Amino acid sequence: MATQPRAAELTAAFHDFNRLSSSLESSYRDLEARVASLAAELADARRQRFEELEARSRLASRLEQILGLLPGGVLVTDAAGLVVDANRQAAELVGALPVGKSIHEVLALLTPSGDDGQGEYDTPAGARVSLSRRPLGSEPGEILLITDVTDNARQRAWLDRQRRLSTLGEAAALLAHQVRTPLAAALLYTNRLANPSLEPAERQAVAAKVVGRLKHLEAQVGDMLAFARGGGGGMVPCDVNLLLEHVVQSLASKVEAGARVTVRTHVNGATVNANPEALVGALVNLAVNGLEAAGEAADVTISAERDGGRLVFRVEDNGPGVPAELAGRIFEPFFTTRSSGTGLGLAVVRSVARAHGGDVRLETAAAGARFALELPLVGEAA
Ligand SMILES: Nc1ncnc2c1ncn2[C@@H]1O[C@H](COP(=O)(O)OP(=O)(O)OP(=O)(O)O)[C@@H](O)[C@H]1O
Ligand SMILES: [Mg+2]
Repeated sequence: MATQPRAAELTAAFHDFNRLSSSLESSYRDLEARVASLAAELADARRQRFEELEARSRLASRLEQILGLLPGGVLVTDAAGLVVDANRQAAELVGALPVGKSIHEVLALLTPSGDDGQGEYDTPAGARVSLSRRPLGSEPGEILLITDVTDNARQRAWLDRQRRLSTLGEAAALLAHQVRTPLAAALLYTNRLANPSLEPAERQAVAAKVVGRLKHLEAQVGDMLAFARGGGGGMVPCDVNLLLEHVVQSLASKVEAGARVTVRTHVNGATVNANPEALVGALVNLAVNGLEAAGEAADVTISAERDGGRLVFRVEDNGPGVPAELAGRIFEPFFTTRSSGTGLGLAVVRSVARAHGGDVRLETAAAGARFALELPLVGEAA
């Protein structure tokens, strides 16, 4: 009697088993399909990643190629100012392998050119370069472009010289006239010297006049030559206070009784890259103008002070000052209001200042005239 229910139980158990195993089978198939799709997805992702990496490395090598082909030098720095990347041209221009060095160390290899082109530098290899710096933008650090402007600088210097020579040419007749007057005076005085009946005291006075006229001539010819040359060349590091001492020495013979020249220096150990003769000449020229403008009781002060990375010389006097309507013209070659002037003084001063990477300007002063001649200090560029 017990066998019947058992058979029924068994049949039910078989049914359950069959249902279960077919459901397991379908789950397994589902799983298999899922694994296959995941494997395919993974392969796809891997291929994509590989392609991305390949594209990135292609881009990197293309960038490197472009950097290598650029005509200028490129330096890239990190947030701390260390050079992390540089192309071959940058290394050639600064004359050293810049990667790993601080940007200040690299820039210290360059010398401010002190030429008309502002912000240009001379490299150890003798090239002239200009610098431009930009922040990287998306990340900390900056990119620095070094452009070789040697040819531009040469052409500029040549053009500048041509311009000066043509100005000189145009003014040659005027100059001949200017030179003839003191020359004629000197000749006249010399003739008088030949007079045997001249008293010794008078003879001395006449001789002094001859020397005075000849010195004036020499100064005019010197100005003319300085203007034609342009005031650059022969640049060496010069101590500012030593330059001022030379200015005072050169002025000694030009300060008449009753007049006074005072030097005030506010710098110690400051150095400028300069052609000392030309720069001293320019400062003397400014002081002589002050002495001439202020007359008998002239009081001329020459000072030097730092202003950021620049050195500013100021020359001021207690004369009548420059009338506002003339201020725009006084630096023009051959502009003069003095009967015995050639009008080259300030033109020379300006060409000297610019040849030193600086400039000269007339400042507004409470009384008298004040000229400021500024130029870059050595080691304080960039
Ligand atoms: N310190 C000054 N005060 C007033 N006027 C000045 C002063 N310096 C220059 N000037 C004006 O600028 C003009 C041009 O000066 P610049 O030195 O170029 O020539 P100059 O002194 O006339 O002649 P030189 O060639 O002999 O120097 C002067 O004639 C004068 O009018
Ligand atoms: Mg003058």
